Amino acid sequence: MKNVTLITGASGGLGLEFAKSYAKSGNNLVLVSRNEAKLYDIKKELENKYGVTIYVYKKDLSKANAASDIYDFVMKKQLFVNVLINNAGFGDYGKFTNSDLKKQNNMVHVNILSVMEMCYFFAKPMQEKDTGVILNVCSVAGFQSGPLMSVYYATKAFVLSFTEALSVEMKDTGVSIKALCPGPTNTGFVSAAQLEESGLFKHLKNATAKEVVQYAFKKMDNKKVVLIPGFLNKVMVLSSKIIPRSVVRKIVYLIQR
Ligand SMILES: NC(=O)c1ccc[n+]([C@@H]2O[C@H](COP(=O)([O-])OP(=O)(O)OC[C@H]3O[C@@H](n4cnc5c(N)ncnc54)[C@H](OP(=O)(O)O)[C@@H]3O)[C@@H](O)[C@H]2O)c1
Repeated sequence: MKNVTLITGASGGLGLEFAKSYAKSGNNLVLVSRNEAKLYDIKKELENKYGVTIYVYKKDLSKANAASDIYDFVMKKQLFVNVLINNAGFGDYGKFTNSDLKKQNNMVHVNILSVMEMCYFFAKPMQEKDTGVILNVCSVAGFQSGPLMSVYYATKAFVLSFTEALSVEMKDTGVSIKALCPGPTNTGFVSAAQLEESGLFKHLKNATAKEVVQYAFKKMDNKKVVLIPGFLNKVMVLSSKIIPRSVVRKIVYLIQR
């Protein structure tokens, strides 16, 4: 079985940067997203540049059975996913009561259910071989509630909690699981969530996808479970643990307004 790094949401933003970093260091890849044409362009570019093998799998992670379909694809190709990067995700800016319910449902599917199911299918083979790394892309949003992005923050809180719990369950195995918690980062996320007007993205200096991925890539082999790139993001997370929750949620509201 050939080892591969599987990346969801690899068509842009952080996922694309992960694909570049892993291909550059000689890893074969499975790239997943809805935009097949973009994934084939990326496959062509990275295969030519780095001489690795890249498999493309078009999948909408908001649909039922998405993770089991991905698992079947990987099994049919006789691949072993030794690195799994659950990166696909999106947000939505605005008041919950004004939101589109279908979009919120899809967000829960992509950000929570698909991550949980991907871990379910791919952690077991890793445990059997006693080797592997799972990186779940969470967010600094996972550390507090987020008025004006209520569902998104809650999805990231789920993924953070779930990842931390699994890291303890798997501590005596060769499998490690990590939560990457970036702060505001310049990617397609901003337009997908209609966040252009949010103070969080307008007034703060945003990281680049490359900076975030370079940080994560360096930390993949160490023992840390929760990875927070950037000094300001670390301070933000620390403050949210010290300041009362009733105050933190108001501050988040004021920043996001
Ligand atoms: N940017 C930030 O400020 C920020 C901060 C903290 C955490 N994050 C997290 O980082 C992760 C990556 O986001 P990004 O910033 O790189 O945003 P992005 O540039 O918008 O990329 C999102 C990726 O997710 C994929 N995706 C979205 N919906 C999907 C679906 N239904 N099925 C399959 N794939 C889907 C997209 O691919 P297709 O459109 O081709 O399907 C795309 O490749 C997300 O989990 C996000 O929550 C982002």
